[in-house]
Amino acid sequence: MLKQENPFIYLNNAATSWPKPPEVIQAVHESLELPFGGGGRGSGRAWKDYLTEGRETVAKFFGEDASDNIIFSLNATDALNTLIHGFTASSPEKFHVITTTLEHNSVLRPLHHLEKKGRIELDHISFSNAKVNPEAIIEAVTDKTRLVVMNHGSNVLGSVQDIHAVGEYLHDKGIFFIVDGSQTAGHIPLNLSSLEFDAFVFTGHKGLFGMPGIGGFCIRNPNPVLPVRMGGTGTDSGSFDQPSDLPERYEIGTHNYPGIASLIAGINYIQSIGMDALLRKSDRQIEIFMKKLSSEPGITIYNPVPELPIIAFNIPGLDNDDIGFILDRKDNIVVRTGLHCAPLLHKEIDDGAGCVRISPSWFTTDEECRIAADAIKEIAHHAYSQI
Ligand SMILES: Cc1ncc(COP(=O)(O)O)c(C=O)c1O
Repeated sequence: MLKQENPFIYLNNAATSWPKPPEVIQAVHESLELPFGGGGRGSGRAWKDYLTEGRETVAKFFGEDASDNIIFSLNATDALNTLIHGFTASSPEKFHVITTTLEHNSVLRPLHHLEKKGRIELDHISFSNAKVNPEAIIEAVTDKTRLVVMNHGSNVLGSVQDIHAVGEYLHDKGIFFIVDGSQTAGHIPLNLSSLEFDAFVFTGHKGLFGMPGIGGFCIRNPNPVLPVRMGGTGTDSGSFDQPSDLPERYEIGTHNYPGIASLIAGINYIQSIGMDALLRKSDRQIEIFMKKLSSEPGITIYNPVPELPIIAFNIPGLDNDDIGFILDRKDNIVVRTGLHCAPLLHKEIDDGAGCVRISPSWFTTDEECRIAADAIKEIAHHAYSQI
């Protein structure tokens, strides 16, 4: 029943998308066939300037006006660390930070570290029906609040947060706003020019179909974010000070240009499909899973109306790791189990036990979704009939 070319059904795209489009693989291959040019690191005119093209491609895709506002990093975690630690470095006094219980450890751990060091006072805003109420964030603001870090798309519940409402309010108050767009970039249309934020983080290896090791952020207001790492930029090399201009303020050392090449090709691929077609397919796949899984009494679905292709569930009486194990060994289906690096979220939905997450992609067929949903139903049916 499986497609000939795939030995398994891959439903773990929220971790890292697979397969990558052939165009992405080809672009990485080509990037390694020529020496690296661009960014002040070579004199060859014929070589491709991946940095400029990459920044322009990302800016255009996200609807951001200035391509120099696009900063490349290793991944979303690296971008969030640069922003959170850089912002804190510019503040001599302890300040108040608001975040949410939906966050990934790439937000929670840097913030927790700063809280332990006595640099910040931290509040976590909870969610209900997979959504954080913007009013709850607004109500938590005090005269000491200087930073809000918030998830755009949940990597467990597949919900999209109202960053528009939060951003408008924080902008008026002059509070720095970092948005973690790791799960929305490539999955929903983004028009950053219509949003108020100070920094928007993305990663290349998930919805944008790039390879691991490339991500970045779009920064509007770099002044309060000091560079926390320094090094070669290929510019102003006579000075021992890190350049203050974008993008060199935050980009150090030799870039991951095969990664940038993969990101350009991934974004071009999405544009060749069209965001509408991508959304239609993802909605259809969510519907296939929901129809089948919600009709089975032994399955708990944590968000029945996800806006992203992410479905989280448990089968009461079974350990989520065991469900993943059975799906793998019996049906060659790859999912993710456990805490999904979002421990506070799990405390709220499953008492911290973790759950199973299914995340299809553009490359998942409807038939693969049906096979996987039936396999899950069968496990639940079996477990339920034992009670
Ligand atoms: C919501 C969210 N934030 C951050 C990250 C970290 O992404 P990266 O692996 O690119 O550092 C992830 C990855 O799982 C995520 O889902």
